[in-house]
Amino acid sequence: MCGIIGYIGNKEASKILISGLEKLEYRGYDSAGLAVIDNKENKTSEINRNNNGNKTNNGNKTNNNNNNTLHIFKSKGRVSRLYSAILPGKIGIGHTRWATHGLPADKNSHPFLDEKKEFAVVHNGIIENYLELKEELREQGVQFSSETDSEVIVHLLAKHYSGDVKDAVLKTIRRLKGAYAFCVLKNNSEEIIGARNGSPLVIGLGNNENFFASDVSALVEHTKNVVYLNDFELSRIRHKDVEIFDFNGKKKELKIKKIDWDLEQAQKSGYKHFMLKEIFEQPQVIAESLKLELEIKKIPFLMPKKAEEFENKSLQKIILVACGTASYAGLVGKYLIEKIARIPVINETASEFRYKDPLVSKDDIVIAISQSGETADTLAAIRLAKQRGAKTLGFINVIDSTIAREVDHVIYTRAGLEIGVASTKAFTSQLVCLYLLAFQLAGKKMNSSSLIEKIKETLSLNKEIKELSEQYFNYSNFLYIGRNMNFPLALEGALKLKEISYIHAEAYPAGELKHGPIALVSEETPTLALCPQDEVYDKTLSNIEEIKARKGKVIALATQGDEKIKQVADNIIFIPKTDPIFYPLLSAIPLQLFAYHLADRKECDIDKPRNLAKSVTVE
Ligand code: F6R
Repeated sequence: MCGIIGYIGNKEASKILISGLEKLEYRGYDSAGLAVIDNKENKTSEINRNNNGNKTNNGNKTNNNNNNTLHIFKSKGRVSRLYSAILPGKIGIGHTRWATHGLPADKNSHPFLDEKKEFAVVHNGIIENYLELKEELREQGVQFSSETDSEVIVHLLAKHYSGDVKDAVLKTIRRLKGAYAFCVLKNNSEEIIGARNGSPLVIGLGNNENFFASDVSALVEHTKNVVYLNDFELSRIRHKDVEIFDFNGKKKELKIKKIDWDLEQAQKSGYKHFMLKEIFEQPQVIAESLKLELEIKKIPFLMPKKAEEFENKSLQKIILVACGTASYAGLVGKYLIEKIARIPVINETASEFRYKDPLVSKDDIVIAISQSGETADTLAAIRLAKQRGAKTLGFINVIDSTIAREVDHVIYTRAGLEIGVASTKAFTSQLVCLYLLAFQLAGKKMNSSSLIEKIKETLSLNKEIKELSEQYFNYSNFLYIGRNMNFPLALEGALKLKEISYIHAEAYPAGELKHGPIALVSEETPTLALCPQDEVYDKTLSNIEEIKARKGKVIALATQGDEKIKQVADNIIFIPKTDPIFYPLLSAIPLQLFAYHLADRKECDIDKPRNLAKSVTVE
């Protein structure tokens, strides 16, 4: 969470930083800020924008030195609040915040300055020992201006500085515990230092200009040549020069990579929201992901003959680790692999995994599922699995992301750039990989011949679902139910509704209702029931009857041609008939559209829902 950026070159830094921060805004949008230096005057100016959007100039403060001016502008709210920041200068750093410590407020916005206002710092991550560091610095007389954990970094830097910024950074990081990527700017200098331990940081290499950013989306309009910093590395960038060091200060080699996508993917292309565009991209995305069959076949530790080894217990289990939507994809994967390949699978919530001393050994295969490839908990789960000798595989969307680089084998899910904070096409691409994996492990060929046509047909339900949203957008609570491999889809549908429309929704296996949640059923709480014609259809139908007998409204997701459902459900969304194993893929689409249209009807900020960020790089 939080996005950071740095620029050094011959162009106006503010513009480049603001445009980069807009690309990084999916990482957090509680506040934003910039620090820029120019070399005209010897002043530091600090401007905050108060909650009414009015400038509150904190005064120009003169530095002791006669060189570069350090200008700061920061504000609670979106990056667009920075548009009025005309800060002169060609070197700068910027930040967009997802609040962890301290409310979203001007004073908690980055960059932070030391007391002499010589250093500016932007930080992504959590400094876990900040309270103890703060106490120590306070005892030395340091005055803090914010409630954040990040501010300790800048005061430590000032304390450790004795002429070389890189050395001060090295000394500072020895004191820090936790996860971080941060960038440091010092007045009177022509360099930016960035350091990484646990949060992503990438360097963009330009022509007489260089960049730092939390991810490549902020760099791609300027350069396609990038270097991914690894944990325990720091970098010093100057106009014409980029160097990397380890945390002992030893110089390392630059490993330059080429980005192979461009900004076109980051446009809404006429859609009202990125989320809607991304929902409609699913036929192409799924077609692309289906092409991964050959790649999955080649993964050495997934050869079908190994399936027998599972039976012989020499390979003990598959463990799927992921968070949120990706972990619901994992749950579908568990049902699929156990059903199709008859291999035991454990689906673990990554945020729980490492704290429960998991049973994972060298015989196991641990598979991370992640759109961003940066989710801190999923990354930590993979690191633990590797420590214990397990083989690791990643189903990852973002190329060269941290998890992609750390797993033994990566399959890129091919969803393309996903900008909407609520995951849609990344989810269905993960599902496709899990289908392919299940068939590969079973040594069988998957028949997906008419799947893409059916996905397209399902998307044509959009208008009907929009109309349905008129009837339902005013409800405050929903239940979602499903059985078997449609149960994870109920979880995913409920999550989509919660996160973008702020309507409370809970999901249960349909058979669990009578064990408690049926007490919630009333005229005020509608149920969305996933009831396609599969082997548990009759059972789910009975659960719907139980809801109707208690005056609950039911929206059923059912199979075209199903006559029985018409007699029980209040509203029906008919999806095309298919091989029952593919219903989760088809059902995902109306669930996404239902959440989307309810949220749109409520005029919610769909692509940037409150309190959320797309990439969760803190625990
Ligand atoms: C929900 C959503 C999140 C992510 C989760 C994991 O719509 O997007 O629940 O699925 O934060 O993120 P990744 O897949 O990047 O690891």
